[in-house]
Amino acid sequence: MTVPFVDLQAQYRAIRSEVDAAIQRVLDNATFVLGREVEAFEEAFAEYVGAKFCIGLASGTAAIQLAAMACGLGAGDEVIVPANSFFATAEGVSTAGATPVFVDADPVSYTIDVAKIEAAKGPRTRAIMPVHLYGQAADLDPILRVAARHHLIVIEDAAQAHGSLYKGRRVGCLGHAGCFSFYPGKNLGAYGEGGAVVTNDEEVARRIRLLRDHGSERKYHHEIIGYNFRLEGIQGAVLGVKLKHLDRWNDLRRAHAARYSELLGPVEGMDLALPREMPYAHHVYHLYVVQLAARDPVQRLLSEAGIQTGIHYPVPIHLQPAYASLGYKAGDFPETERQAGRVLSLPMFPEMTDEQLAYVAETIRRISAGHQSFVARG
Ligand SMILES: Cc1ncc(COP(=O)(O)O)c(C=O)c1O
Repeated sequence: MTVPFVDLQAQYRAIRSEVDAAIQRVLDNATFVLGREVEAFEEAFAEYVGAKFCIGLASGTAAIQLAAMACGLGAGDEVIVPANSFFATAEGVSTAGATPVFVDADPVSYTIDVAKIEAAKGPRTRAIMPVHLYGQAADLDPILRVAARHHLIVIEDAAQAHGSLYKGRRVGCLGHAGCFSFYPGKNLGAYGEGGAVVTNDEEVARRIRLLRDHGSERKYHHEIIGYNFRLEGIQGAVLGVKLKHLDRWNDLRRAHAARYSELLGPVEGMDLALPREMPYAHHVYHLYVVQLAARDPVQRLLSEAGIQTGIHYPVPIHLQPAYASLGYKAGDFPETERQAGRVLSLPMFPEMTDEQLAYVAETIRRISAGHQSFVARG
């Protein structure tokens, strides 16, 4: 048996007629950039998240950059971000002209360690950007309290957390703005690049609309210098179809995660930590991330058994060469660095079968039983 990390072909097979019809509408109308399918999706996604406005964009990275710019962040401003995230969280801050300031991860939730935010704050700090990592909300209330105390903006990076809840409320609209990615493998994925910002702030929404389209609200009239960060019509059409399935897919992800955790219960002889759903969170398991001392050999043996896995992420952002100029060094964020050497993302997608899931769990148990020596050595 082989188990892919994600299976977008299986998903397409299940919704083929709806997707084909939606794409056909775009071809018939020739609304390839923005247009009615994008507008309909923006409206539906805003309603889904519970925000007043949604602005469709070319990627999640563009969403982070434009949300930061529209909230007034730029040169000389510092934005607190977790060191444990995909590179684009910090990159979007940088391309907006501001500077990321990193904070370590919480050892249990993997998200930003809220107890360490206050100490990272300096005179130039203007915003905090929590990331709802792997599909689980960061602990937002303490973040919002620090932000209120110091008049900071909160921009959520919800790129991995479509449909995720914090204390019963959808992530994305709990701060000033929320950024989503619709990269194909995400819980809500397009058939190409895509992203969006949601916000309740009309002025922020207006500025993002301007920035995404060459600073122009009226064709060939340009108020400011902007970008070409528009969402394509075909992506809007595909996303509109897929949004209707999102809650069901997220429920399936949660059921698969529960089954994994049941089957992987304590594995004898193996130092294996399973993901934990925090009491404030409704986790949507974009990724099911375990921690293992012997991560690299286990990953190799899983691959030999036909099981694809991922590492999210092998190099923390503060240690990336791109940020060498900020002067961080190994040891600055011990928990993030520890996780980078131990995390392993197991196959996770709604269409996963019971057999595939059982095979992954069984193979991990078999590896553990057969390779005590290297497992013990780590
Ligand atoms: C946490 C996080 N932030 C930002 C992004 C950037 O999104 P995109 O790839 O759509 O630019 C991603 C997606 O890969 C992500 O996982």
